[in-house]
Amino acid sequence: MAIPQLDTSLMSAVERFGAIEMPKLEWTPAVARETEAYYERVKSVVPPVEWPAFAPYVRAIKQLKRERNAVILAHNYMTPEIFHCVGDFMGDSLQLAKEASRVDADIIVQCGVHFMAETSKLLNPDKTVLIPDRKAGCSLAESITAADVRALRETYPGVPIVTYVNTSAAVKAECDICCTSSNAVKVVESLGAPRVLFIPDEFLAQYVATQTDIEILVWKGHCEVHERFTGDELRAYRESEPNIQIIAHPECPPDVLEEADFTGSTSGMIKWVKDNRPPKVLMVTECSMSDNVAVETPGVEFVRPCNLCPHMKRITLPKILDSLVYLKDEVTVDQSVAARARRSVERMINLDN
Ligand code: 13P
Ligand code: SF4
Repeated sequence: MAIPQLDTSLMSAVERFGAIEMPKLEWTPAVARETEAYYERVKSVVPPVEWPAFAPYVRAIKQLKRERNAVILAHNYMTPEIFHCVGDFMGDSLQLAKEASRVDADIIVQCGVHFMAETSKLLNPDKTVLIPDRKAGCSLAESITAADVRALRETYPGVPIVTYVNTSAAVKAECDICCTSSNAVKVVESLGAPRVLFIPDEFLAQYVATQTDIEILVWKGHCEVHERFTGDELRAYRESEPNIQIIAHPECPPDVLEEADFTGSTSGMIKWVKDNRPPKVLMVTECSMSDNVAVETPGVEFVRPCNLCPHMKRITLPKILDSLVYLKDEVTVDQSVAARARRSVERMINLDN
């Protein structure tokens, strides 16, 4: 007689993987010794008074990652004690999406925002994907719905739709292909169409339009962090610091990009600083990234206009530890959209390989 199989998809993550007790979180000489090498890494950006609050978490998270066979994917906007001390794979949206497709672990903890965790789940349907705070959203992802995309299809029949990765899985499912800020031009040009709808970031779409002859139709979504920078602000920096180099993320408005010496994705900007080693640089993007790059580029002075992403900043060491202990919050993607959304993401990844 066949033995009935247990449907593990109906079980909670704790039922699947077992309960673990919250480790003790104390600042002791042993913890100081065990975490010394990590503090050494971040000491230029984390004041010594803060380390006793971080170190017990760093130690506990490392221990639980081993016990749970988990990996941490950390976006470039994570704070340095996350990015440099507990992250296993760090990078921009494209790098994290690619890493997610080949990660070898039972559990992925996504230190980033919700759309990134959904992308990881799409590429790892059999793994458990956790986000330390499910309220970590994104103003771009919230600017458009699947119904909006279906309406665009009706208005522009036959025009391919490219979606920036900063969208929900439901939106990705309605689009032809996904892109990130590091491959947007290549993705648009891969379609062989004279006109392309590019959603949802108006400024990234306008930037892509300056790099290609293809006509780009835009949606008016914005990143609430990058839209706040202005060309006037950058001109004022240049006047007071004539030797400054300005590098900007393409989610910034066009007048900001006009003032920039280089425009690129978060990883593109990091590479630019590492390759060029400017004496003084202003990274026109989320503030924590300057801290993370400063750790690896001694001698480069960073001017920080400090716009923080409130969504990225929801991810903290205590919430990461809670994620690993209580296996929350689990990210799932509705079956009705998963296959089509995965196709959009995989089409992009295959183009890039
Ligand atoms: P990157 O793909 O450049 O990392 O950008 C993601 C993002 O959310 C920037 O605001
Ligand atoms: Fe979204 Fe902007 Fe935050 Fe990036 S920085 S996650 S685009 S709100």
